[in-house]
Amino acid sequence: MHKLFILLVITVFAFSVADKVTKRVGETVTLHPNGTKESLNNFLWTFGPNAPVEAIAIVTNREVTKVNGTRFGNRLQTTAHNGSITICNLTVGDSGIFYIQILTESGILKRTIYLTVQVYDELKNVVEGGNVTLETPTFKLEKKHRVIWRTGEGIEGKIIVQWINTFYVLNINFGDIVQFNHNGSLTFIRIPREYSGLYNVQILEDNEPHSRKCYNVTVYEPVSLPYFTTNITEIFDIGPSPSDKGCYVACSVKNGPDVNLTWFNGPTMISSVYDSMNVSMNLSLPLKIQPENKENFTCEARNPVTVERKTLSSTMWCPSHQPEGTRTWIWLTAVGVGLGLMILAIINIRRRNFRRAVMVRRENRQESPRNYESTSSMI
Ligand SMILES: *[C@@H]1O[C@H](CO)[C@@H](O)[C@H](O)[C@H]1NC(C)=O
Ligand SMILES: *[C@@H]1O[C@H](CO)[C@@H](O)[C@H](O)[C@H]1NC(C)=O
Ligand SMILES: *[C@@H]1O[C@H](CO)[C@@H](O)[C@H](O)[C@H]1NC(C)=O
Ligand SMILES: *[C@@H]1O[C@H](CO)[C@@H](O)[C@H](O)[C@H]1NC(C)=O
Ligand SMILES: *[C@@H]1O[C@H](CO)[C@@H](O)[C@H](O)[C@H]1NC(C)=O
Ligand SMILES: *[C@@H]1O[C@H](CO)[C@@H](O)[C@H](O)[C@H]1NC(C)=O
Ligand SMILES: *[C@@H]1O[C@H](CO)[C@@H](O)[C@H](O)[C@H]1NC(C)=O
Ligand SMILES: *[C@@H]1O[C@H](CO)[C@@H](O)[C@H](O)[C@H]1NC(C)=O
Ligand SMILES: *[C@@H]1O[C@H](CO)[C@@H](O)[C@H](O)[C@H]1NC(C)=O
Ligand SMILES: *[C@@H]1O[C@H](CO)[C@@H](O)[C@H](O)[C@H]1NC(C)=O
Ligand SMILES: *[C@@H]1O[C@H](CO)[C@@H](O)[C@H](O)[C@H]1NC(C)=O
Ligand SMILES: *[C@@H]1O[C@H](CO)[C@@H](O)[C@H](O)[C@H]1NC(C)=O
Repeated sequence: MHKLFILLVITVFAFSVADKVTKRVGETVTLHPNGTKESLNNFLWTFGPNAPVEAIAIVTNREVTKVNGTRFGNRLQTTAHNGSITICNLTVGDSGIFYIQILTESGILKRTIYLTVQVYDELKNVVEGGNVTLETPTFKLEKKHRVIWRTGEGIEGKIIVQWINTFYVLNINFGDIVQFNHNGSLTFIRIPREYSGLYNVQILEDNEPHSRKCYNVTVYEPVSLPYFTTNITEIFDIGPSPSDKGCYVACSVKNGPDVNLTWFNGPTMISSVYDSMNVSMNLSLPLKIQPENKENFTCEARNPVTVERKTLSSTMWCPSHQPEGTRTWIWLTAVGVGLGLMILAIINIRRRNFRRAVMVRRENRQESPRNYESTSSMI
C-alpha cells in the first residue's frame, strides 16, 4: 500500500498549481487539503526540500500510521478526519514542498504547498539610482555550501544568481543590475524604482537547508525641495497697529511614499503632516507666524532615504516687516507726520493771531503783562 502510494507520488507530482505559505522560525503551521466534500479515508502527505518524495503522514481507512524517522518527529500531528497536518516549532530546514494526495472514488485529489520558513526579514530602503547590498546570514562560505538568491519571499521565486562549487551562475535578466560578491552578498547597482520588492537568499549545506533570509527592498525617489506659499487673505490681526499683524505661510512639497513634512523652530518640531492616501497630490502644511516671532523657521521634507530643508525668516516674511508692509508703514508715518505738521501750522497761525490780539490789547492796557503770559501758557 505505502509503496503504491509513493510510486503515485513520483509519477503524478507536478509543480503546476501550488499555494505558498510563509512562516517564521518557531511558529506553527497547519497545512490542509483544499476544501473537499469527499470523505477523507485514505490520504498521503509527502515532503522534500526540492521535491516531495518522502512520506510524512499516512492515513488509511481513517487510521493514522505513524511515519518514523522523518525530520518532523513529534512536531507533526495528523488530523485523520479532515486531512490536515500541523507542524510546530518550525525550523529553516522545514522549508520545502508539501504534497497531499487523497484517494477518492472519483480519483486522486492533489494539492501542492510551498512552505518557506524564514530566519527573519529585513527592510532595506534605498534611493533610486543608489547601490544596495543584501547580505547572507553571516557565515563563511565553503565548498559544501550552495547560495541561491531569488526574487520573492521563498523558493517559488525567480532565481537571480546561484553559487555552487565556488562558481556562480547569474540570471542574464539581472546581469545589468546585479553584482554577486565573493562573500555571497548581492549588490544592486544604480537600482531603478521598479526593483522594489522582496528578495530572499537560501543557503544549503551539503544540499540540506542551512539558512534563509528575506529582504524587503523599497526604492524611493529623492524627496523634492519644499517651497513656500502665502495666502494674503489670511493675514491676521491681533491689534490695531500694523506691527500687530501676523501671517500664515504654507510649506508644500511633492508627495510620495512615506514623505513627511515638518515645521521646525530651531530644533523644536512645531507641526508635521504625512499623507499616504493622496500620494499624487502635493503635501502642504500651514504655519501661523505671530507678530512677536522674530526667528527663522525651517520646513523639512523627509522620506526614509533623503531630506530637504528650506528656512524662512519671519521678519522677512511677515507683512509688518515685508517690503509691501514697510511701504504701508512709511505711508502711514508720512500721513501722520503731515497731519502733525498741519496741526502745528494751525496752532502757529492761531498763536500769531492771538499774539496780534494781545498786542492790540497791550496797546490798549499796557499795565497788565501777567495776564498775557498766563493766557499764552494756556495755549
Ligand atoms: C514507528 O514507531 C512506533 C513506536 O515508536 C511503532 O509503534 C510504529 O510501528 C513505527 N511505525 C512504522 C511505520 O514503522
Ligand atoms: C516546542 O518548543 C517548546 C518550547 O521550546 C517546547 O516546550 C515544546 O515541547 C516543543 N514541542 C515539540 C512538539 O517539540
Ligand atoms: C482539521 O482539524 C484540526 C483539529 O481539529 C483543526 O486544527 C484544523 O483547523 C482542521 N482543518 C480544517 C481545514 O478545517
Ligand atoms: C486551493 O484553494 C485556493 C482558494 O481557496 C486556490 O487559490 C488554490 O488554487 C487551490 N489550490 C489547488 C491546488 O487547487
Ligand atoms: C554604485 O556602484 C557603481 C559600480 O560599482 C559605482 O560606479 C557607483 O559610483 C556606485 N554608486 C554609488 C552612489 O555609490
Ligand atoms: C561582502 O562583499 C561586499 C562587496 O565586496 C561588501 O560590500 C560587503 O560589506 C561584504 N559583506 C561582509 C559581511 O563582509
Ligand atoms: C515591504 O515594506 C514596505 C515599506 O515598509 C511595506 O509597505 C510593504 O508592505 C512590505 N512588503 C511586505 C511583503 O512585507
Ligand atoms: C486663502 O484663504 C482663503 C480663506 O481661508 C481660502 O478661501 C482660499 O482658497 C485660500 N487661497 C489659497 C490660494 O490658498
Ligand atoms: C507640486 O509641487 C511641484 C514642485 O515640487 C510643483 O511643480 C507642482 O506644480 C505642484 N503641484 C500642485 C498641484 O501644486
Ligand atoms: C485624500 O485622502 C482622503 C482620505 O485620507 C480622501 O478622503 C480624499 O478624497 C482624498 N483626496 C483626493 C483629492 O484624492
Ligand atoms: C535668520 O537667518 C538669517 C540668514 O538667512 C540670519 O542672518 C539670521 O541671523 C537668522 N535669525 C535668527 C534669529 O536665527
Ligand atoms: C513620518 O511620520 C510618521 C508618523 O509620525 C513616522 O512614523 C515616520 O517614521 C516618519 N517618517 C519619516 C521618514 O520620518
